[in-house]
Amino acid sequence: MRNSEYPMLKGITYLDHGGTTLTPRSLLNSFCHEMQAVLLANPHSDASNPSASAIMVEETRHQVLRMLNADPAYFDIVFTANATAAIKLVTEGFSGSEDGFDYYYHRNSHTSLVGVRELAARSHCLASNEEAEDWLAGRASNVLGEPVSRRSILFAYPAQSNMNGERLPLSWPGMLRDSPRHPNAYSLLDAAALVSTSPLDLSNYVLAPDFVAMSFYKIFGFPDLGALVIRKAAGHVFDHRKYFGGGTTDMVTCIGDAWVARKHSSLHARLEDGTTAIRSILALKCAIVTHRELFGGLGKVSEHTSWLAKRLYTRLISLKHYNGAPVCHLYNHPDSTYGDPTTQGATVAFNVCGSDGTWVGPWKVGTMLRARKIYLRTGTLCNPGGIACALGVDAELLRRAFNEGFRCNTEADMIEGMPIGIIRVTLGAMSTMEDVDVLINALYQNVTEHNDALKPSANDYNNKVDSVMTSN
Ligand SMILES: Cc1ncc(COP(=O)(O)O)c(C=O)c1O
Repeated sequence: MRNSEYPMLKGITYLDHGGTTLTPRSLLNSFCHEMQAVLLANPHSDASNPSASAIMVEETRHQVLRMLNADPAYFDIVFTANATAAIKLVTEGFSGSEDGFDYYYHRNSHTSLVGVRELAARSHCLASNEEAEDWLAGRASNVLGEPVSRRSILFAYPAQSNMNGERLPLSWPGMLRDSPRHPNAYSLLDAAALVSTSPLDLSNYVLAPDFVAMSFYKIFGFPDLGALVIRKAAGHVFDHRKYFGGGTTDMVTCIGDAWVARKHSSLHARLEDGTTAIRSILALKCAIVTHRELFGGLGKVSEHTSWLAKRLYTRLISLKHYNGAPVCHLYNHPDSTYGDPTTQGATVAFNVCGSDGTWVGPWKVGTMLRARKIYLRTGTLCNPGGIACALGVDAELLRRAFNEGFRCNTEADMIEGMPIGIIRVTLGAMSTMEDVDVLINALYQNVTEHNDALKPSANDYNNKVDSVMTSN
């Protein structure tokens, strides 16, 4: 299946599915077929009501809701460019209110969640799961001071860290809703990393997040499209949104009074600005079917990638230099367990050390691997809080590093002998044991220091590498 569906993988070991997963040939074929079979007019121009395009878009919306076990009576889906655009849309709703909003975000947040703080009246980064749970349950005093009357609170966190794959509790939105200390608070779940290799179940609408952001290319490899899932009970947040775009209004006046009547038929009718991404949505419809045919659904993908990630993790920790010093320092959260998909996704984050414990810059390792056609991600990974905690560096040191010329994913990624960045492997539905073995072998051959007297010859190595690796 790999050869026929993913010809672009020939001779390549691709380990950056968290960046984007790859597009299977069957999806492209089915998309090309549909594009030639169906006339897709702009739904805003087509006089037939509803148009073929509008019907296809609504069908796809329902398919996505079904994929999430989300009852359309309680949830709506707004198609967006990507997860970031979905997060920005939520921010537009909250920042439109006269009283503004207070913002709490988890330290594992992707930069796209962190950026919301710039529009908040006050913001606070919850530095650990314990701090988050104390705050959610109303046990901690309010670090931002007393809530301002009528000002809403937005709490955001990733369902899975894009840095090390730690899966965070999906019970937090329910805790927030139950807490009498937070009567005017809403939750935003960034599911971009989670849903790439895991199902997300929104069947319990009482405990579900108010907003869920995701990017479909991370699940299917195509199309480049995202979505915001909105719990309808929280839809009033968008009553404050100021901007309106084409297609979201029933009437606008400009000469004389500046007046607008916004659409009220549904949240998506009100929030999908401009021409609907009809071709991308058609591709999404094809992608949902193809993915199920190829992989049997996200539950199966979760089982496969979870097993593979455990194998990779185990082999990385067992890589040792000739003197017994570990080759890799791994950054998994202590409460996460590889092989347990409720706490850990298919991501392994690490750095490389020499036999004397000195760090090797992640960019250098990444460049060496890339030369061997192994693709993975290095750098600070758009996860500023997670990286700072994993590396044990504070804001002052990071600013100093910046002033001294550090830039993410360049050769200058060390300060005072410490790396400012990590190496990240993310596995996907079509990853194989061989992908894992190729990476381990490359690290064994190129960064592991061997005792020359014991070092196997190239031939020995090729024959015995597996037993060498597992006995270490
Ligand atoms: C957890 C998480 N959130 C948000 C994003 C941003 O997604 P996008 O770039 O598709 O908007 C990513 C992308 O890697 C991510 O992993």
